[in-house]
Amino acid sequence: MSEYSTIVVSTESRVATIQLNRPEALNALNAEMMEEIVTAAMGFDADPGVGTILITGSQKAFAAGADIKQMADRGYADMYADDWFRRWDDLTRLRTPIVSAVSGFALGGGCELAMMSDIIIAAEGAKFGQPEINLGVIPGMGGSQRLTRAVGKAKAMDMILTGRRIDAAEAERIGLVSRVVADDQVLAEATTVAELIASKSKPSTQMAKEAVGSAFESTLGQGLLFERRMFHSLFATEDQAEGMSAFAQKRDPVWRHR
Ligand code: HXC
Repeated sequence: MSEYSTIVVSTESRVATIQLNRPEALNALNAEMMEEIVTAAMGFDADPGVGTILITGSQKAFAAGADIKQMADRGYADMYADDWFRRWDDLTRLRTPIVSAVSGFALGGGCELAMMSDIIIAAEGAKFGQPEINLGVIPGMGGSQRLTRAVGKAKAMDMILTGRRIDAAEAERIGLVSRVVADDQVLAEATTVAELIASKSKPSTQMAKEAVGSAFESTLGQGLLFERRMFHSLFATEDQAEGMSAFAQKRDPVWRHR
C-alpha cells in the first residue's frame, strides 16, 4: 500500500514520478498534498539512483490551484502563523532536475508548481493561468516572481491582473513552457525527456540546474563566476574524465554519477 494518500509515486529507469492524485478536486493542492509532494521529492532528491523527478497530474488537470475550500475560512493570523506555502521553498531547493508533464488545467498554485520545475512539457489542450485575482487575493506560491522572470512584465501583468487563462500555444510562444505535444503524447514525451536527462552524469545535470538557477538569483558577473567555478569543479569528477576519454575513443561514456 502506498505511504501517500494524495499522490502516487513510482521509479523506473532513474526517473522518479510523482503523480498528483486528488481527481475529485482536480488535484487542488491542499496542505496534505503539498506536504506529500515535497516529502516525496526530497526523498528522491537524496536517492543516488534517481536522476530526474517527473511531476504529472491527470488528463483533465495538472492542478487547479491551491485548495480554495481549505483556505476559505482562514484568517491572517492563521496564514502567517503557519507561514502557508513556505514548504514549497524546500521543493525549489532540490538539486535533481524536475520535469513537469502538464495536461488540462494548471491554474493558480498549479501553474506555480509547474513553474517550480525546470522543464515543462505541455499538452496542446493545457490551460495555464493565475486566477487568484478573481478570489480577492494574489499568487502566493511564487507566481508574481517566477512568471515575471519567465515571460516578462507585459504577459505576467496581463495574466495576473486579469486572471486570463492562456493556452499551450501561447504558453510556448511567451516562454512559459519548453515544448507542446499532442494531448495523448504528453506523458510519453515528458518521460523521454526525463529519461534522457537521467541518463547523463548526475553531477553535471545537478550543476547545470544550479548554474541556470543562479541566473535568477544573481547579477550577471556573479552568475558568470558561479558558472565558471562550477565548470572548474566538474574536473574533480570521475565522469568528466570518463566523458572526455569516451569522446576521444569514439565510444559511449559509462557514467558513474560521481
Ligand atoms: C478546491 C477545487 C479547486 C480548487 C476545483 N475544485 N478547483 N477545489 N480548490 N482550486 C473542485 C471543485 O470545487 C469541484 O468540486 C471539483 O473540483 C471539480 O471542479 P468543477 O469546477 O466542477 O470543474 P469544471 O466545471 O470543469 O471547472 C474546472 C475549473 C474550476 C475551471 C478548473 O474548477 C475552477 O475555476 N477552479 C478554481 C481555479 C482557481 O481559481 N485556482 C486558483 C486557486 S487559488 P465539487 O465538490 O463541487 O465537485 C491559488 C492560490 C495561491 O492557487 C495563492 C493564493 C493564496
